[in-house]
Amino acid sequence: MIHRQIDVALGDRSYPIYFGKGFGSSFAPTCQQHGIPERIVILTDSNVAHHYLDPIEKNLRHFKFSVSSIVIPPGEHQKSLSRANQIYTQLLKEGVGRKSAIVALGGGVVGDLAGFVAATYQRGVTLVQVPTTLLAQVDSSVGGKVAVNHPLGKNMIGSFFQPRFVWIDADTLSTLPAREVVCGLGEVAKYGVVFDAEFFAYLETNLERIQQLDPELMLTVQARCCELKAHVVSEDEREQGLRIVLNYGHTVGHALEAAGSYRVLKHGEAVLLGMAAESFIARELGLLPPGDHERIMKLVQRFPLRFGKNSFAPARVLAALTRDKKSIDGKARFVLPVRLGEVQVVDEVGSPVVRASLRQLADVFGTK
Ligand SMILES: NC(=O)c1ccc[n+]([C@@H]2O[C@H](COP(=O)([O-])OP(=O)(O)OC[C@H]3O[C@@H](n4cnc5c(N)ncnc54)[C@H](O)[C@@H]3O)[C@@H](O)[C@H]2O)c1
Ligand SMILES: [Zn+2]
Repeated sequence: MIHRQIDVALGDRSYPIYFGKGFGSSFAPTCQQHGIPERIVILTDSNVAHHYLDPIEKNLRHFKFSVSSIVIPPGEHQKSLSRANQIYTQLLKEGVGRKSAIVALGGGVVGDLAGFVAATYQRGVTLVQVPTTLLAQVDSSVGGKVAVNHPLGKNMIGSFFQPRFVWIDADTLSTLPAREVVCGLGEVAKYGVVFDAEFFAYLETNLERIQQLDPELMLTVQARCCELKAHVVSEDEREQGLRIVLNYGHTVGHALEAAGSYRVLKHGEAVLLGMAAESFIARELGLLPPGDHERIMKLVQRFPLRFGKNSFAPARVLAALTRDKKSIDGKARFVLPVRLGEVQVVDEVGSPVVRASLRQLADVFGTK
């Protein structure tokens, strides 16, 4: 049963996000309702395939869809042009034509890669997102940003390509490793600081139950995040303005990920640390009241985030900051909180305050 629906309003490209639990049996009928072509290719990774591929294939076949699947290994490095090319080859060999659909069954890696392939294969085929990580359910599956990585930078090759619908089954979270739950909650907390002080307070009150994936609370959390993301995307699909605010925590976060060569921190963990650092910067610049800074720090500290004190040489982090694709003329752009629920874009942040924020991260979260 579908428990809830949120719409992303984008004119004739509008689409629904469906929320439920154990509602696998309604997937194929929903595909029919949306006029999804009969020929479907499911793209997934081996971890997700192990749990969820069989039932979704069976459900689709039962409703007379012609289904094949491509299972890739898990991991960020799969988001590459060479992997995309292998997938194109397989699609061509199987004779998959323009009137077909790709179902992205997995986390953000599968979603971004499958979306990129769907956007480009034969100039575009139908895309359905079935996100299975918390991060993908509250963030990456909604909004149509699709991409692969380039050796010189993450998400450097990509496009905007919206799915026909998004299918969020909270039951898939039951098999998600705890570290991935933390990553998803990084993006969740971000929505609170950026848009919604009440939601932030809800997280403060309920964080432990949410970390344990209490089903009642999860639906509230997923739906609120998707509502906020849907609003941003419908206002600013191509990130010309408003959508940039979703980068709170990401300027320092991306730099930390890069400085650790993408091995030390996962994306969501880096975002949490980035949120801590950027709220420190905001406080130092006199933008954020100390009390709000403290609440953000306290929330971030409730997550299991630890790294070696010397994992991130400040020089490497600062160099990564100026390489960020959102930087302008080598100057990093910061989205800084001015109070819980409101942020401001700031282009001029001096490196001494950034260095100080990195020292504070090492003091608070660094081990040894
Ligand atoms: N397009 C966007 O707007 C957007 C936004 C944020 C992040 N992203 C991208 O998302 C990616 C990160 O996504 P992610 O955090 O979902 O990582 P991921 O896709 O690598 O998934 C994390 C791990 O969990 C496993 N997994 C997935 N679902 C599972 C389940 N239900 N049970 C057990 N294991 C499961 C995967 O196999 C993988 O090992 C990054 O590449 C990032 O750039 C994109
Ligand atoms: Zn993110």
